Amino acid sequence: MTGWIPDEKISEIRSASDIVEVISEVVILKRAGRNFIGLCPFHAEKTPSFTVSPEKQIFYCFGCGAGGNIFTFLMKYQGTSFLEATTALAKRYGIPLPERAASSKQQYVRTDRERILEINQMAMEYYHTILLNESNGEVGRVYLRERGITDATLEAFQIGYAPKGWDHFAAHLNRKRIPTDTAFKSGLVIPRKKGGGGYDRFRERILFPIRDLGGQVIGFGGRVLDDSLPKYLNSPETATFQKGRSLYGLDRARKACRESDSVIIVEGYFDVIALHQHGIANTVATLGTGVTPDHIRLLKGFAQTFYFVFDPDVAGIKAVERVIPILIRENVTARIVRLPDGKDPDVFVREKGPKVFSDLVARSLPAMSFLIESAKIRHGPTPSGKSRIVSDLENTLASIDDEINRSIFVKAAAEGIGIEEDLLFQRVLRIRQKSGAKETFGDGFEQGGPADDVFSTDQPVRFEKKILTMMLQYPVMIPEIRTRRIVEQFSDPDLKDIGRLILSYTGAPEALIPEVISMGKDPETGKRIVHLAAGEDSWNAEGCLKLIRQFELHCDRPERADLNARIHAAQKENDHALLADLLKEKQRMIHKRD
Ligand code: UTP
Ligand code: MN
Repeated sequence: MTGWIPDEKISEIRSASDIVEVISEVVILKRAGRNFIGLCPFHAEKTPSFTVSPEKQIFYCFGCGAGGNIFTFLMKYQGTSFLEATTALAKRYGIPLPERAASSKQQYVRTDRERILEINQMAMEYYHTILLNESNGEVGRVYLRERGITDATLEAFQIGYAPKGWDHFAAHLNRKRIPTDTAFKSGLVIPRKKGGGGYDRFRERILFPIRDLGGQVIGFGGRVLDDSLPKYLNSPETATFQKGRSLYGLDRARKACRESDSVIIVEGYFDVIALHQHGIANTVATLGTGVTPDHIRLLKGFAQTFYFVFDPDVAGIKAVERVIPILIRENVTARIVRLPDGKDPDVFVREKGPKVFSDLVARSLPAMSFLIESAKIRHGPTPSGKSRIVSDLENTLASIDDEINRSIFVKAAAEGIGIEEDLLFQRVLRIRQKSGAKETFGDGFEQGGPADDVFSTDQPVRFEKKILTMMLQYPVMIPEIRTRRIVEQFSDPDLKDIGRLILSYTGAPEALIPEVISMGKDPETGKRIVHLAAGEDSWNAEGCLKLIRQFELHCDRPERADLNARIHAAQKENDHALLADLLKEKQRMIHKRD
């Protein structure tokens, strides 16, 4: 199940790691009794329903039902495989892993994703070395020096240079015996139309490696040195790289974001590295795409206030209009930073220094005010100007699904423009009706969602689930369950499997839950185990025994019904000998459990 890492190693890694510590890095957790709670990173919500239990070493979201152990969390959060999650934890907690055997007979097959990550890592090192040391990297060095980039920054961001020529990197991969089709999958080598082999995607470009939160290289952005087009070329979308879910610089910005509880979002690679170089480290960039809900969710774990540095030109305003409904839906604070004369943050911070930049950040406008202000400047305060301002804003306002939020923003906008609130309210409502938009309330999450009821709720199954919960949360009862062969009497085959899994566990009781989750034959089973383990958990021996007895009585029911029928018949036929036997049996059955 687990590829080339032996099960004992996995247990070792699991027991060395702390789920609260790992999740804290990406979700702000507050203590709540025995657990920690925070905003779920897997769905939009305003009130925390995401729970992490240090005792059980699990996480569970009562809102969307996401749950699991530390491995599951990393896999889900970073979109990685079990192997990657395990390797990352091993590295983090200093647990040595066995070398991968060179033999071809091993059953472990690496995923495309893992292969691409490996090639990306090789590419980062290859191109970085060229930039720093090789003669064909000289032009890149000069270019970056002229743009004020220091050696420390080159190092920190592992910036590289792809030199002139068609197949430097392709040949490098060949020498390293990387199969061509794997090289193609990484997008760094492109198949030739004629003949075999491939050529390099990046040529004569400065390369910015894009890393995920775990520091793994998922793709690259490459800039030309002159005015040729396209100015920037990115890695194509691969198994590792999705632009709408990645942010440049987040791996280096996360700490500063947490410390300031804020993040500055800029548009370009150079803006990120220049601001970092000037000590403004809570800066990230999108990758030539608009801001997506995935971006916001990713960042929400690190910051509550989002500063956007957009040009106050038409494209910039359009970008703000698009992003506002997303930010409102995700319940984060959005402010817009305006730099004078449409300067890039990169140029601005180099000319004016970090202090002046930070002052502008401090004077940023709330996103909606920014839209109102820019519309006012565009159209002027005349009645016809006002009506044009309304036309500019009404669609954005109408796209806010949450009723309460919408009314707050409508009110603010009406005040800002200087018109009747009711008038604007009616117009926005009409737009919504026309588009058939659905109203939501609160965090926009529909009630009765996937959280409850993976299982049906008929009686025996309810007992069985409850018993499994007890076994997971109060493992001292497990020997009792075993002796009485309770699990074997389960009617639901899936629950019976889970019960057997729990019985087969022999490790320390405090690791029972996370270990059993890993032992599940598939992720679905793991999820069911979390679901069972997550509920209320105040057990005592007496209550447990009562539950076990109830279950047994329940199981006996058909047997007892049958006995009663036979007693009835014996009475009817006046068979006293048989009746006496049957009554004795009934006595035995009733007392057998005590
Ligand atoms: P800009 O054109 O504003 O470039 O694109 P820039 O970041 O200011 O770059 P410099 O300062 O001229 O070197 C902003 C971002 O849009 C994406 C890149 O992510 C870039 O950083 N972009 C731009 C592309 O993906 N492709 C392009 O051709 C241009
Ligand atoms: Mn720029």
